[in-house]
Amino acid sequence: MDEKLVPEDLRKAYSAKEILEIEKKHVIPAVSHYYEEPLLLVRGEGATLEDAKGKKYIDLFAGICTTITGYSHPKFVATLKWQLDRLVYTSSLYATIPYAVLAKRLVEIAPKGISQSFIVNSGSEANEAALFMARKFKNNPYVVACTHAYHGRTMLAREISSAGWRTVPEAHPPGVRFQPYGYCYRCPFAKEYPECDLQCARYLRELIRTQTNKAIAAFIVEPIQGVGGIIQPPPEFFQITNEIVKEFDGLYISDEVQTGFGRTGKKWWGIQHAGVNPDIVTMAKGFGSGIPIGGFLTRPEYAEEYTTTDSFATFGGNPLSCAGAIAVLDIIQESNYLQRAFEQGRYLRKQLEALKQEHKIVGEVRGQGMMQGIELVRNQDTKEPASQELLQVMELCKIEGLLIGKGGIDGNAIRIQPPLELTKEQIDEAYQILDKAFTQVEKTL
Ligand SMILES: Cc1ncc(COP(=O)(O)O)c(C=O)c1O
Repeated sequence: MDEKLVPEDLRKAYSAKEILEIEKKHVIPAVSHYYEEPLLLVRGEGATLEDAKGKKYIDLFAGICTTITGYSHPKFVATLKWQLDRLVYTSSLYATIPYAVLAKRLVEIAPKGISQSFIVNSGSEANEAALFMARKFKNNPYVVACTHAYHGRTMLAREISSAGWRTVPEAHPPGVRFQPYGYCYRCPFAKEYPECDLQCARYLRELIRTQTNKAIAAFIVEPIQGVGGIIQPPPEFFQITNEIVKEFDGLYISDEVQTGFGRTGKKWWGIQHAGVNPDIVTMAKGFGSGIPIGGFLTRPEYAEEYTTTDSFATFGGNPLSCAGAIAVLDIIQESNYLQRAFEQGRYLRKQLEALKQEHKIVGEVRGQGMMQGIELVRNQDTKEPASQELLQVMELCKIEGLLIGKGGIDGNAIRIQPPLELTKEQIDEAYQILDKAFTQVEKTL
């Protein structure tokens, strides 16, 4: 490749300081970075990232639960280059090979009865589109979402979110209702599982009977909440809510933006672990492993109602993103990521449980497969969130070459959602670094 063809401005070896100065001058504050001294990342390989100074980091966060195939995967890169050389873009006003091939491939992995896809650009857009379809199909405005949920930041997506992002006075659009999520560590009903008999899930019937016209368009739920702090309800939560949703004639939407594509191990979709067959799954993040793409999959009877005037996205289903997503599906299948996420996840969980035994700052370890969380508390009895301490842990990990994510309404849950290329050796190294960081931070409690 003739590198001289690449704009010189891009090829320059910038320092982090230079880049942050440019950003300070020209980028709005909504774009904020992790760490007191933000990282300037320049390349990656497997589950390792490298900054501008050449320092390497084990990546336990995959951007935000996104680069499922890791960085620079040869098949992913080759596919994108191949498509770049042919056709980067045309709209879905014209047929293209990648869109059709991707739609066919998605049916192979879709939950039972699902055969139709709609491709857009992000998770927010996917949720908006799915809810629009549900509302139209059911001719009903009511949508039920869960407490601590995060479904995106477009207007409707943020209105069905409750993970703590309401920063300006917003009027709820008509029809949005909230259902308590199965957050057992901090049960809103102060009950213990399983004696609680899943009171949280059963509340949905009361909610629909008292706060809607006794019917809903859809119930939307994350199988494991990511932004909410890797919260995983017992499987009965999904089974019971599914029964109630059906009783009131609604569609069951599983937001698989984070849990999708094998991350939870053994199954393609997180909701399948509960034995629930959803009407719609929404997806993004790992779907493109870093290439912007989102979408939903649904049953033909609902898709039938979703016609030309209902939706369109200029970049939705563009050839480059679709080609990237096809490569991702290939890699997941060829590298047996579903099994790998299960096995590596089991090993990772063992290490995290060992950290819980050693450290009083660890309140709870939870999650599944390669989607695990550690909720940090200042006191095991009061469960006071250790929010500031988590920031210190992040800084200490960064110094040692480990990147972790943050979540939870109080910002006290460590999020571990790495590329599925993460190795056992990297898990061991991560364990050592976290162990050291917890030991140091606990001294301040
Ligand atoms: C579960 C879930 N749904 C939807 C979204 C929104 O996706 P996007 O940021 O691609 O719009 C996110 C983003 O974090 C998410 O975690």
